[in-house]
Amino acid sequence: MTEIIHITRNNEKDSIDKCGEIIKRGGTVVFPTETVYGLGADAFNPEACAKIFRAKNRPADNPLIVHISSMEMLDKVAYIDNDLREKMKNIWPSPLTLLLKKKNAVPDIVSAGLDTICIRFPDDQIALKLIECAGPIAAPSANISTRPSIVDSETAISELDGKVDAIIDAGRVKYGVESTILDCTAKPYRLLRAGAFTVEDIEAMIGPVYVDPLAKGYSQSNVALTPGLKYRHYAPSKKLFLIENEDQFRNFISSKDSKDFLVLCSTENAKYAYGESLVLGKNIYDVAYNLFYDFRILDNSSQKYGVIQGFPENGIGLAVMNRIRKACFMIVKEKENIDKINKVINET
Ligand code: TXA
Ligand code: MG
Repeated sequence: MTEIIHITRNNEKDSIDKCGEIIKRGGTVVFPTETVYGLGADAFNPEACAKIFRAKNRPADNPLIVHISSMEMLDKVAYIDNDLREKMKNIWPSPLTLLLKKKNAVPDIVSAGLDTICIRFPDDQIALKLIECAGPIAAPSANISTRPSIVDSETAISELDGKVDAIIDAGRVKYGVESTILDCTAKPYRLLRAGAFTVEDIEAMIGPVYVDPLAKGYSQSNVALTPGLKYRHYAPSKKLFLIENEDQFRNFISSKDSKDFLVLCSTENAKYAYGESLVLGKNIYDVAYNLFYDFRILDNSSQKYGVIQGFPENGIGLAVMNRIRKACFMIVKEKENIDKINKVINET
């Protein structure tokens, strides 16, 4: 049985205490953060953490992020050098997750046997109060493995009801893409995942960052493209096509019938669409906010396919493009021929 917990101003403390008790007793709770919903359990309890992997159908070799709400809590789970610690005092709480050396107190199941651990200090009042009450909390994104991350409570309930002990209903989250992950065990620090905290801000507040070209979201299999066979992530069930060149995208959406293709685009590009389109927003923060939400709308739509435009890759745009490239079935890069989309459509 899953308890759905609606948070209101009047019951907030009691509701969060109740969820904290569930976690302390070894249960699982879906809770909001400022990025996406998480599926949490007591980070020191291996049986409780095993429930996370089962509920999400997550492979055991994919480690969890540990959520903290104070520097004292950090000291229980990981090692951090003094210089970085001082800087983080001014940066946390925020959607910047650090990869650090793990302390032995954290069970192996959390880090999938690695000697490192991802630490996140989220900037969300409900999350912080829950962690204060029952933390540190191990929590991956709440979605079932390979599905888009969950950014609203309705989706959380429809995807996880019956699989966890409680779900906190707190509406839509603030950012809509996951936290940025910075590997602080390497020098210079390395970006492991683009996210809601921008690389530009990390460089201004912490120092230089090595950004691997893979941060853009192209994978080996995208490069040597084998449609349908490549491993996807954050993915809608419908086939989504990305057209990176703006002129090609506009031409494509003006010629394709919207009963086959759901168009996902900016406010500005919506006027080029042959029929209706799903507007992601007018600036890149709106696009991030709506992206995973709209992937789910695509899945529930009558159209067979989705087509999405590219966005500039500065600021949070780096994370947006990383998620789009990982989620889509096929990428038409700048200077590539659009006919490869038609080929797929004609074959199916
Ligand atoms: O915004 C977020 O970070 C959300 C909310 C719930 O906090 N959490 C989240 O967790 O996105 P998850 O598990 O979906 O993504 C964490 C990523 C995974 O790709 C995992 O492989 C990687 O972090 N990761 C975790 N621990 C790691 C480690 N020790 N070494 C390398 N990668 C690690
Ligand atoms: Mg995830």
